[in-house]
Amino acid sequence: MAKIKKTLSEAIQERRATPSFDGTPIPPEDLKQILAAGLHAPSGYNMQPWRFIVVQSPEQKRRLRSASYNQGKVEEASAVIVACGDTDGWRKDLDLMLQRGRQGGMPESYAEQARSSVPNYLSSFSSSEMRAWLNKQVMLAFTHMLLMAEVMGYDTAPMEGFEQDKVHEVLRLPLSYWVVALLAIGHLKGADKFDGGRFEMGHTVFSEEFGKPLKI
Ligand SMILES: Cc1cc2nc3c(=O)[nH]c(=O)nc-3n(C[C@H](O)[C@H](O)[C@H](O)COP(=O)(O)O)c2cc1C
Repeated sequence: MAKIKKTLSEAIQERRATPSFDGTPIPPEDLKQILAAGLHAPSGYNMQPWRFIVVQSPEQKRRLRSASYNQGKVEEASAVIVACGDTDGWRKDLDLMLQRGRQGGMPESYAEQARSSVPNYLSSFSSSEMRAWLNKQVMLAFTHMLLMAEVMGYDTAPMEGFEQDKVHEVLRLPLSYWVVALLAIGHLKGADKFDGGRFEMGHTVFSEEFGKPLKI
């Protein structure tokens, strides 16, 4: 089963946004393990509104590169996972979500409540609110995949530098899809990127309320 090369702590400490990949193909079983990690992520109401397009062929990577401000790593990576959200996913998948939930022991009272609260909540969203909601859900699955790939010894590059319309065209995406981010996976070629460092905890973390330092 799992091909593990690093602990999660090591992967988090050592990970860099990879500047360049050597292009070696990724074995299908590794790709499957990475994707499965994404699909195990939690999501609001367990609606799993993410959709992933895996791009591996040289022609399609070339096209995707041209939709991504010509970023070379899109073409060099072993695989690029284009992470999308489906704005209509909850309409299509509500029954499936409930069915899976019941198989896992979801109480009938929960299922009944979800059947009304999910549509009530999500149908009230404006399109920008829906995109913000999708961004949250999809990035969590994206992060699961990124970390799984790193733990397995791959190098990764998250990317937001792409043109929504162009990616839609290249991948022939349904109109209800919203492209959230690209995850390039492969093996580093050449020198790694510098370590940009991180702000001190006191700069970004507070205790109990804004402005109070957390003492740990
Ligand atoms: C959501 C997201 C989008 C990003 N988009 C790009 C991108 O399009 N091109 C790029 O070269 N780097 C991109 N990066 C990489 C960041 O620049 C990088 O993560 C940051 O500088 C910190 O460096 P590190 O990841 O090596 O610690 C992106 C990172 C994230 C999290």
